[in-house]
Amino acid sequence: MAPRNYPDEIDVFTVPHSRMKELVNIYTQKVQCINFRDGREVVSLLHDLGTTLYEFKSHESIENIFIMDQLKNRLKQHQIHNSAVCDCHNDNRLADVLHLVRTGTKVREQGVVERLTFCQELQRAFDEFVTNFLTHMEEEEQVFQPLLVEYFEYDELKILKDIVLKEHEYV
Ligand code: FEO
Repeated sequence: MAPRNYPDEIDVFTVPHSRMKELVNIYTQKVQCINFRDGREVVSLLHDLGTTLYEFKSHESIENIFIMDQLKNRLKQHQIHNSAVCDCHNDNRLADVLHLVRTGTKVREQGVVERLTFCQELQRAFDEFVTNFLTHMEEEEQVFQPLLVEYFEYDELKILKDIVLKEHEYV
């Protein structure tokens, strides 16, 4: 879908998503190139990846509280139920990858074959998460942002964007 452009001051998704996409690119590369023979390197990557996954999770929480709940309420006032808005964070694969990262620190003591199996599982889970996450962010930009513009006043969206950036600690 061709991107629709909205004035920066009311575009609540593009700035946080730029950061999310940058992290996705960095960790896609790191996870694909992981050296499963080196237990210490795997554990170090798991540590960094864990921190990054919590940043994704925090992004999701901020959106739930400050965007999706507000949008759901506003649509409700107009007697509109939009299941995409209601379920938008219920089907990402973040929890699967987080679980692997949490349980993966024991790989340091494991043999190479077990570590290889774990790394392959991690690569698969992270790939699935990334595919899902990129599609999800596109939906937010292409479907939810227009809904916000339709149902919120311009000044409300300016305030909302300021809050979203502050909550992400970008300002
Ligand atoms: Fe912006 Fe729900 O990820």
